[in-house]
Amino acid sequence: MISSVRELAILVDMAGRVSSPVLVGRSDQLAQLEAAGERAAGGKPAVALIAGEAGVGKSRLIGEFAARAHRSGARALIGGCVALDDGGLPWAPIVEALRGLVRSMDPGALDALIGVARDELSRLLPELARPHAGPGPDDGVAQARLLEVFLDLFRRLGREAPLVLVFEDLHWADRATRDLVVFLARRLRDERLLLVLTYRTDELVRRHPLRPLLAELGRNDRVERIDLGPFGRAELSAQLDAILEAPAPAGLVDDIFMRSDGNAFYAEELLAGWRRGEPASLPGSLRDALLTRVERLSGPAQAVLAAAAAAGRRVDHRLLEVASGLSGPQLADAVRETVAEHVLLADPDGRALAFRHALMREAIETELLPGERIRLHADLAAAISDHPDWAYGTEATVAAELAYHWDAALDLEHALPAAIEAGLAAERVYAFANAARHFERAVELWDRVPGAAAVATLDRAGVLAHAAEAVHRTDDQVRAVALQRAAVAAVDSATEPVRAALLQERLGRFLWLAGDPGTLAAYAEAVGLLADAPPSAARGRGSWPPTPGRCCSPPGSSRPGRSPSRPWPWRRASAPGSRKAGRRPRSGPRSPSSATRGRGWPTCTAPAPSPRSWSTSTGWAGRGSAWSRRPRSPAS
Ligand SMILES: Nc1ncnc2c1ncn2[C@@H]1O[C@H](COP(=O)(O)OP(=O)(O)O)[C@@H](O)[C@H]1O
Ligand SMILES: [Mg+2]
Repeated sequence: MISSVRELAILVDMAGRVSSPVLVGRSDQLAQLEAAGERAAGGKPAVALIAGEAGVGKSRLIGEFAARAHRSGARALIGGCVALDDGGLPWAPIVEALRGLVRSMDPGALDALIGVARDELSRLLPELARPHAGPGPDDGVAQARLLEVFLDLFRRLGREAPLVLVFEDLHWADRATRDLVVFLARRLRDERLLLVLTYRTDELVRRHPLRPLLAELGRNDRVERIDLGPFGRAELSAQLDAILEAPAPAGLVDDIFMRSDGNAFYAEELLAGWRRGEPASLPGSLRDALLTRVERLSGPAQAVLAAAAAAGRRVDHRLLEVASGLSGPQLADAVRETVAEHVLLADPDGRALAFRHALMREAIETELLPGERIRLHADLAAAISDHPDWAYGTEATVAAELAYHWDAALDLEHALPAAIEAGLAAERVYAFANAARHFERAVELWDRVPGAAAVATLDRAGVLAHAAEAVHRTDDQVRAVALQRAAVAAVDSATEPVRAALLQERLGRFLWLAGDPGTLAAYAEAVGLLADAPPSAARGRGSWPPTPGRCCSPPGSSRPGRSPSRPWPWRRASAPGSRKAGRRPRSGPRSPSSATRGRGWPTCTAPAPSPRSWSTSTGWAGRGSAWSRRPRSPAS
């Protein structure tokens, strides 16, 4: 199959083209980008914001510009945001851009370049991880530190050669990516960096999260906006001529221009339909044009496209095999057909297929019948659970995809633990808005899943506390208070006084940040719950200053003995009965969670001064498991 995917790349060239081999028009925009690039190369960093509707030619423009920049000695790194549900995959564009960097450098040069930032970056790029290096502490400024790491990296890269960093499709950006963009736009000083951002103007509905970011960028002198409009008739005619390699009939140009309104992608699709002798009257909308093309394909080819559309923009051929229900020569033929028809493209690495344009995927996806959609997502979720490497992602993105597929498959029993694992994985890469969405989804699912406690790796209070913390980290303190109150209510303070106290203390903090006068009462409650407890780190948090020397550092912490300034009292180390994210084993004992194993803050091994679980071993920095989960009965 792999070899046949490679062959397909060759086949595309033979099957006639759907796109113009030359860039049509856009000379003003290219000149604008090149001027910004030259300024950046001279130490005046710049941000270019390319705005235009879907299919108008943003990617083509930046592809051309990046190639030119490369030829002139600059380094171009490109990454795209990935739509998933309504949150976007965490850090997707920076991960993709950095992967391009890692691939392009030899290991020695890479090591010299990233130096001490390796451990931080390895959170996002597991391929950078040193053996035995665990994640560092989250001390509340960890995300800010990661942003600084990126800036420093770009600074160093810029010293070698001017850097063009492209984030595509910002309308799908996750919150962490938006934070990075804001941070860079504010903090760039004299780096030799041009940051290029593209986004779809037709996606920006009211209250779209990109709007505030655009408003902020609009106030920044360093940012220039390049509006990419549709082609005029002459440009569209040039596009059609270039595709046909002959002058297009004037009537056809008029017709396509009228229907496409000069949208380059729409024009390509209309022309492709016309060349195949499709209806004398051209389809009335882009969606119709796309679907008409798909309907002409064979049944197996349509099955491949349905599976690919459910999987996302890019799909591994092995996933396609599972979800399409095809195999062997039949699958190869079907895939070949979709590529020959320019619906899918073979990835350059030969392992995956991608839609020629996201609009094609979107059109096919909306056409899936409900039962078909559920089955496809269930098959995809099961396959990715068993083979996470087929999703080509990082731990956080694969976990997010799994949560999405199980949810879309309406398989709540798997969706619940998958949401929790996705939340935990997002936390580990400081993608707190993503984490918040996953934990809040887990809270919603909890009451709808019979026996939720048996399938989840956190208890309900733990999920709520994680949700509260993640929401707090996205600066929504009022919501954090509500979630934390629910977490407090979910813990029995009679049986778990220490856990209840720590949750109360955290509630006090959120109340204070929300400007709520209930703060003191919450702190008093926390202190009261610990009144009879022997000295411990937990008690230390109820009085000030905390007794020094009570905390221990997690292994892997870069500063032994230093305790993070902000405790995470809900974190469990390794839960008994925790299991792999996503798919539940159909039978047999549950395995420990691969996502959490060895990655959570380990329980410290310092001897506990008391037989009770609130000893220093689960204290402030140790982040042990004592308060994150209610005690299980031996049978559970
Ligand atoms: N200036 C151009 N010259 C030739 N073809 C173009 C031009 N702009 C866009 N296209 C073609 O139109 C299609 C859609 O363009 P793309 O850049 O993917 O759109 P967007 O990124 O805005 O959604 C692509 O196949 C692309 O090759
Ligand atoms: Mg694009």
